[in-house]
Amino acid sequence: MSTVMITGANRGIGLEFARQYVADGWRVRACCRDPQGARALSDLQAENPDAVSLHRLDVDDDASVAEARGEIDGGIDVLLNNAGVMEGRAASLGSMDYDAFEKALKTNVLGPMRVTEAFFDHVRQGDDKKIVTVSSRMGSLTETKPNALIYRTSKAAVNMTMRCLALAPEGEGMINVVVHPGWVRTDMGGSGADLAPEESAAAVRRVIAGLGPADNGGFFNYDGTSIPW
Ligand SMILES: NC(=O)c1ccc[n+]([C@@H]2O[C@H](COP(=O)([O-])OP(=O)(O)OC[C@H]3O[C@@H](n4cnc5c(N)ncnc54)[C@H](OP(=O)(O)O)[C@@H]3O)[C@@H](O)[C@H]2O)c1
Repeated sequence: MSTVMITGANRGIGLEFARQYVADGWRVRACCRDPQGARALSDLQAENPDAVSLHRLDVDDDASVAEARGEIDGGIDVLLNNAGVMEGRAASLGSMDYDAFEKALKTNVLGPMRVTEAFFDHVRQGDDKKIVTVSSRMGSLTETKPNALIYRTSKAAVNMTMRCLALAPEGEGMINVVVHPGWVRTDMGGSGADLAPEESAAAVRRVIAGLGPADNGGFFNYDGTSIPW
């Protein structure tokens, strides 16, 4: 039985990843900040008690990541760094929101780094050895537009973080990529977005399933094409 660990699994794309991996016969280590309040995820766990385990994990918080690490035994085939925030959407020159900026960097950059570092050995023990961070093409330097400066900066930074880890000697034999899930109808993406969470998660899962060693260090769209850095 393959194992996936998902951060931010209580709603949005993360919840849909959890549902689809369970339906596909995977063991799901579903992580979120507040398991007690995660109704849909608790239902999924109750319906699939052998396949789904719930873990409290706040990617901003060392102690919570360490606690989850203590709870999770065995290898992880796919680590899905999905948790993320869109902070300070309107902040720009003259109205920069530095608290929002710090929060975005903390959750979107330090968060995936912290989780990846804590669970690196778990992934090494897995068969697939894949680390997938849900980034955004808004983090592409090539495609930059002058809006959402904070979010774009955080996603560009996490892209670089994961690229460095992918190329580091410690990552040898592992496949570490960043993916853009599309514009998705979640709390973050809004109701006017292109894709339902079901479509996005299914497409990203196809990309993940198709990843091979040559893809290590890549930046992929949900349709499997490469995105320029
Ligand atoms: N939706 C889009 O169009 C779109 C496009 C490109 C990229 N993305 C990326 O896709 C990922 C998922 O986004 P989404 O659309 O599903 O967003 P969402 O519906 O807003 O869900 C965000 C998830 O991240 C979790 N989260 C936030 N801060 C966290 C923290 N400190 N620790 C643990 N979990 C935390 C949230 O948990 P709580 O419920 O506890 O807040 C929630 O589960 C994000 O990385 C996002 O940047 C989304």
